[in-house]
Amino acid sequence: MKLLVRLLLGFLVVIQTHTAPTKCYCLDQPKEHPEETHYDAKFDRCDGVEFDAITPDEKGNIFFFKGDHLWKGFSGPAQLANGTFQELDEYHHLAHVDAAFRMHSKDEDEPQAHDHIFFFLDDMVFSYYQQTLEKGFPVNIQQVFPGIPSHLDAAVECPKRECTTNSVLFFKGSDVYSFDIKTKTVKKKEWNHLPNCTSVLRWVEHYYCFHGNNFTRFHPVSGDVSGAYPKDARHYFMTCPNFGKWSMSHRKPRCKLDAITTDRMGKSYAFTGDYDFLHELDTPRDGIHHFPITRSWKEVSGAVDAVFSYGDNMYIIQVKEKKDCFSAHYTLIEGYPKSVTEELGIQGPVDAAFVCADQHVAHIIQGQKMIDIDLTATPRAVKSEASLPIHKVDAATCDSEGVKLFVGPEYYLYQTPKVLAVSKISPVAQKFPPRIFGCED
Ligand SMILES: *[C@@H]1O[C@H](CO)[C@@H](O)[C@H](O)[C@H]1NC(C)=O
Ligand SMILES: *[C@@H]1O[C@H](CO)[C@@H](O)[C@H](O)[C@H]1NC(C)=O
Ligand SMILES: *[C@@H]1O[C@H](CO)[C@@H](O)[C@H](O)[C@H]1NC(C)=O
Repeated sequence: MKLLVRLLLGFLVVIQTHTAPTKCYCLDQPKEHPEETHYDAKFDRCDGVEFDAITPDEKGNIFFFKGDHLWKGFSGPAQLANGTFQELDEYHHLAHVDAAFRMHSKDEDEPQAHDHIFFFLDDMVFSYYQQTLEKGFPVNIQQVFPGIPSHLDAAVECPKRECTTNSVLFFKGSDVYSFDIKTKTVKKKEWNHLPNCTSVLRWVEHYYCFHGNNFTRFHPVSGDVSGAYPKDARHYFMTCPNFGKWSMSHRKPRCKLDAITTDRMGKSYAFTGDYDFLHELDTPRDGIHHFPITRSWKEVSGAVDAVFSYGDNMYIIQVKEKKDCFSAHYTLIEGYPKSVTEELGIQGPVDAAFVCADQHVAHIIQGQKMIDIDLTATPRAVKSEASLPIHKVDAATCDSEGVKLFVGPEYYLYQTPKVLAVSKISPVAQKFPPRIFGCED
């Protein structure tokens, strides 16, 4: 829980120092680099470019590579790649970047490589840290990734939570090499059903194979594709005229939350509207991302009323005709959805809910009432009830700063649930910067 608190603090700091509010819902705010003006119009990705490689850097900026050019982020023109990664074209016998990935795993497996970007060119691998080539590189791929062939098509990191072990997936033709970072063992798979990927990107825990101007989302362990693919990348991963109807970077949610929570892994989830949620990645600098709810949890559809995290689970409360209550932790737990009454011993609807770290009490807000429910008791029973000084709470969460009650574009901060329960007046409302939620105020 310490970790969670730290991340959350970091999250807030990052948000408040963010200085580019105009495209706040953009994945990975592209940095301005006014000093680098030497781009040319050789490639226009809106014409439908087949990328050689795509990778995030340590700040979460996404780089798209084609030939000797790259794009930074979702919008902006192509630039010469050597302006950012100078040494990549100093080895004249090597062609363009075949594949690239960011080593993000930071546990015991490869601590020294944390946040390094690896580039693969023919049979050589380059390792960059903070845009500087690491000493001793480039070297032959086999020296760092034994068992991995040269002339790769694509590479992507797959952390333990998503693959069985911290791994890197390498793609060549229809062959996939799953490289275990710790043991350096390689498992070869054939995913003939997947198009041959020229680049692969992991983005918000999902895996995208790019081929031609299209992409296909696949499961990193099974390679399974579910959903209607391929899709045209110009609608999703870049800003192009006449495209982008579905672009993640163009969603404009309301400045009003439906529900918010932080799970045990330290990720914050905020639900706004009936298809968007914001999602904080592993680290605050990875920024805020909007997704249709159904992408992560296909069982959840429509607006979320309240959400709280307890133990390993996240409880998503939606009151529909059937008064459903979901518990989602990557997958729906068997036996769910259950009714709110069955799960919590109260009648819906619910406006907001929160559980403070290391506590076993769910605080449920209904109208102007806060109901405390002991989560260790079976059957669940209401412990206490309090009358709140605030009407119409949209969402609530408990974090390192205290309890936050969100009402429209503002929130009220209370030190503890107890302080909230005995309050007769509301504190001064604090504005959250609209850019936190990527909305237009
Ligand atoms: C990058 O490449 C271009 C064209 O090949 C060249 O003119 C330029 O000097 C290079 N820049 C650097 C910083 O190496
Ligand atoms: C995909 O790669 C395999 C080699 O592994 C090749 O035989 C096949 O023709 C490629 N498919 C396409 C559609 O290019
Ligand atoms: C891209 O996908 C569409 C279907 O969504 C398909 O009609 C088209 O041929 C694909 N283009 C390429 C270059 O793969």
